[in-house]
Amino acid sequence: MTAFRPFDEKGTPLEEQFMSWEQLLSEPYDKNNADPYTRTRVILMNGIENNAFITKHAMARLIADEEIKENLAMVRRSESMQQQLVEWLNPGNQTILETTIGYEQVAVDLTADLAMNEDDDYQRKVLDFALLEDFDHLYRYSAHMQRMEGKDANKVTKGAVEIKEGRPTRVHHRHPHDEMRNHWNKDTASPKTKMNFLTIVSAEQQTENYYKTHGSMFQDDLSRALYSEIADVEEQHVTQYENVGDATMTPLEMNFLMEVNEAYNYFSCAQSESDPRIKQIWETMMRDEIGHMQNAIELLQRFENKDPEKVLGGDRIEKPILLRPTKEYVNQVLAEQKDFQPYEREFIPESQIPKGWASFAFRDKVNGDFIPSEIVVQGKEKQKVPVTSRGR
Ligand SMILES: [Fe+2]
Ligand SMILES: [Fe+2]
Ligand SMILES: [Fe+2]
Ligand SMILES: [Fe+2]
Repeated sequence: MTAFRPFDEKGTPLEEQFMSWEQLLSEPYDKNNADPYTRTRVILMNGIENNAFITKHAMARLIADEEIKENLAMVRRSESMQQQLVEWLNPGNQTILETTIGYEQVAVDLTADLAMNEDDDYQRKVLDFALLEDFDHLYRYSAHMQRMEGKDANKVTKGAVEIKEGRPTRVHHRHPHDEMRNHWNKDTASPKTKMNFLTIVSAEQQTENYYKTHGSMFQDDLSRALYSEIADVEEQHVTQYENVGDATMTPLEMNFLMEVNEAYNYFSCAQSESDPRIKQIWETMMRDEIGHMQNAIELLQRFENKDPEKVLGGDRIEKPILLRPTKEYVNQVLAEQKDFQPYEREFIPESQIPKGWASFAFRDKVNGDFIPSEIVVQGKEKQKVPVTSRGR
């Protein structure tokens, strides 16, 4: 695997990046025969693209300079088209639950790969912590898919990831203050730490949005409740991960790093993609991102007089992201950290946490006597769900 050197890559000029509706209509992968990691790459890159255009919208609402606004509008339109091209690679005959299995597979194998290559010890612990929660979500959704559709989730993953209990979902629910984390420092963090941050924030944000926009499409109450419960854990994951970023970065520094990260992710996908047609898409999109990055560098230099290499912290990212089976790593983390919870920004066994921990009361309140993630792994006869909620 070769290192990614963003400043040596050739980019496509912005004005050449817009596509016709016909060019945007990408041919979906075949859900039965595709490499499961092709599906996970599509899910990941859709999340990366959604973050790119959502963040640029947020920036445009907070930056007064007309020239920057105009510049962001131009790049954002390209991001928007990239997102559609990528997301439309998903086939229409894939059910919401099958796609969901793909999402949690990404959460497991992506988080494990990022953690394995994270050089900051604290940041690796943060990744390991949420890894075990998404690992459990995979187990809960798999049980639910078996019940709802009579399908084995291993058919979706082709057995690449283990499906078994992790840290049980019922104990994921914590007081919002317990998602606060220590952040890395923009002047000393490695390029890889910065890329890991942007990648995982985008992936978790995408997962949260997917559960929040698809949970209500089910007609039965148990599915609706399960998506609602797990969407809330993803909200916690996004909160945890955005907290590890250095918020003293200026918007234009962040904008530049985001473009590097998009390019880095496409570069990584192209390195390992087994479908030649889709590999070509990753390569084309990578060149588009280099075009975005060059544009972001211009803004950074002109408005803030900053050196992009200094902002990145180097001229390369040593290791590409590799989506592949990570069973051994996951089992090791599971053996060591299954009962961990965050206490005063460190991760320790729950048994060592004092009784007054705010998350104990929070957990009891949200769980009450109805925990969807528990019901889905019980026998059918026990799957009783309250018919109508009275609200608060
Ligand atoms: Fe993009
Ligand atoms: Fe999850
Ligand atoms: Fe998650
Ligand atoms: Fe971009």
